[in-house]
Amino acid sequence: MPPGKLLRTSTFRLALLYLALFCLSVLALLAFIYWNTVGFVAGQTDATVNAEITGLAEQYRRSGIAGLRAVVDERSRNQRYSLYLLTSPGPARVPIAGNLDAWPPVETGPGGWLDFVYDRPVGAEIETHQARARHLSLAGGFNLLVGRDVEGRRRLELLIRESLLWVMALTLGLGLIGGLVISRNMLRRIEGIARASQEIMAGDFSRRVPVGGSGDEIDRLAANLNAMLDEIERLMTGLREVTDNVAHDLRSPLNRLRNRLEVTLMQEPSAPAYRDAIGEAMADAEGLLNTFNALLGIARADAGAPGENLEPLDPGALVRDVAELYAPAAEDKGLTLDHHIDDGLGLDGDRHLLSQALANLVDNAVKYTPDGGRIRVAARRDGDAVALSVADSGPGIPAADRARVLDRFVRLDASRHSPGSGLGLSLVRAVARRHGAELRLEDNAPGLRAVLLFPAMAER
Ligand SMILES: Nc1ncnc2c1ncn2[C@@H]1O[C@H](COP(=O)(O)OP(=O)(O)OP(=O)(O)O)[C@@H](O)[C@H]1O
Ligand SMILES: [Mg+2]
Repeated sequence: MPPGKLLRTSTFRLALLYLALFCLSVLALLAFIYWNTVGFVAGQTDATVNAEITGLAEQYRRSGIAGLRAVVDERSRNQRYSLYLLTSPGPARVPIAGNLDAWPPVETGPGGWLDFVYDRPVGAEIETHQARARHLSLAGGFNLLVGRDVEGRRRLELLIRESLLWVMALTLGLGLIGGLVISRNMLRRIEGIARASQEIMAGDFSRRVPVGGSGDEIDRLAANLNAMLDEIERLMTGLREVTDNVAHDLRSPLNRLRNRLEVTLMQEPSAPAYRDAIGEAMADAEGLLNTFNALLGIARADAGAPGENLEPLDPGALVRDVAELYAPAAEDKGLTLDHHIDDGLGLDGDRHLLSQALANLVDNAVKYTPDGGRIRVAARRDGDAVALSVADSGPGIPAADRARVLDRFVRLDASRHSPGSGLGLSLVRAVARRHGAELRLEDNAPGLRAVLLFPAMAER
């Protein structure tokens, strides 16, 4: 993977931003620790020196220069890190007592404080140590210098400063490596998606985006893209089927229509023959129009996403209307048509599509059930779900054909004698899909029971 590309990824930039923030907080934390530790230790040194200088000044007041000299001498011998120097009056500052060889050659700072280095014998060697001391001018012109060896403190400061650098370097290094690894991983997965979409655009519609399996947001995105691709493929297949259907199944009726008209033209011209021919041609055209409309209706129901544009409606009213609409036809054929409606049912649906689907089912029942049969349309509660069903006592559909009859233009041999184009159940299936409902064809023993099972409202 080219590094330039990696650096331009948003993940890497995000990682950098995060790293910068992290470094800042680490820096703030370490600086806090540093200033506090150093300040605390320095404060303690100064306090010790101040206390001692107060004690020695008191000593001088009480027992004069001889007493002070004795104390300084004694302390110089015992105290390991304390420094003392008592000098004569005047600018020469000749040492009288103490463990410092000479007055340090530095300017006296504010408050009488001096920071200087001195040579200290450690074992056989001489080391240069950092020291901090306070100068006190005594009455009589004597100068007293009291201080501490702060070499330990200086080393501690150095150590803290050094670890601060190391920690910063380590944080930066690890952060950069982490950012690179994360963004490379991310980039690889995004590249996978990009490559898949390029192949799909190039015409391989069965190609899908790779899903890693960890279930993270990229996987969810990939799964959604795949679902979208499935849906697009399904719609495209549907569209192709419709075109194929139109090409194959409308060609023969159109040919028949043209042949009929041709034959009529070749016969002896006569008004009654023409009238008959026109009547038949109109019936053919009507049939063609119906088929067209049915195909368009199916395509339209199929094109909508499941659950789209649905509104709350009363399934009981649907059942009642359809039963009413088909009552005359059923009566003509000597069939009993009744309906059953459970109380308090509700459904989210497209009123127009649902009543058309129910009408198609009842139309089939009326068409295929012989005289004296019985048809029942019902809206029932089935657990949490709502079931709309049409049951008849006719010949039914053999179990082996139940999946097939849902396809467009499929008609069973047993029903060749009755009119129809084999599109009724296809529309019912499309409507069911649009509602996220399940279409079941069952054995009514005897007869067929078609059930539309709508999932519980809360699930949709
Ligand atoms: N209630 C039923 N009893 C027996 N067979 C049925 C029943 N309903 C459908 N079928 C069979 O299923 C086939 C397909 O039905 P479908 O409703 O799709 O088409 P159709 O009724 O033949 O034509 P169309 O509904 O388009 O006028 C029918 O031709 C018939 O063979
Ligand atoms: Mg039908």
